[in-house]
Amino acid sequence: MVLNVNGVKREVTVDPDVPLLTVLRDHLDLTGSKYGCGEGACGACTVLINDNPTKSCITPVGNATNKEIITIEGLEKNGKLHPVQEAFLKTDAFQCSYCAPGMIMSAAALLKKNNDPTEEAIIKAMNGNICRCGTYPYILKAIKLAAKS
Ligand code: FES
Ligand code: FES
Repeated sequence: MVLNVNGVKREVTVDPDVPLLTVLRDHLDLTGSKYGCGEGACGACTVLINDNPTKSCITPVGNATNKEIITIEGLEKNGKLHPVQEAFLKTDAFQCSYCAPGMIMSAAALLKKNNDPTEEAIIKAMNGNICRCGTYPYILKAIKLAAKS
């Protein structure tokens, strides 16, 4: 099957029921999206499908064909980081960073739809992403900073 990943058509030979996360990491070497819980509960594997944050660990790859898939590797453009990536760096919104790719993808999706979200809207949009290190106040700060930029 052919997948459109980060603007590039990629051909893979896999069963359509294989999770998209497995295909991204093991077949396409896009290891930015992380495996956390593997059951749709933590958000570490979040990618964008047609601009919607999607948990790739529970998304069969067969459901992602003919759609635009963006991973954390696809956010940077022409050597310039996405404003959400810049804001996470500026605010030190990481400890172990395992949650960061998924957090950044969810935040990027939110700001694309709403570039001036309230704190409540940010918390609601980020509700499916868990940070085991508890960096939530910094993540909130980063998203507010990205919205300003
Ligand atoms: S690894 Fe996909 S939601 Fe946890
Ligand atoms: S920074 Fe460690 S899980 Fe979020």
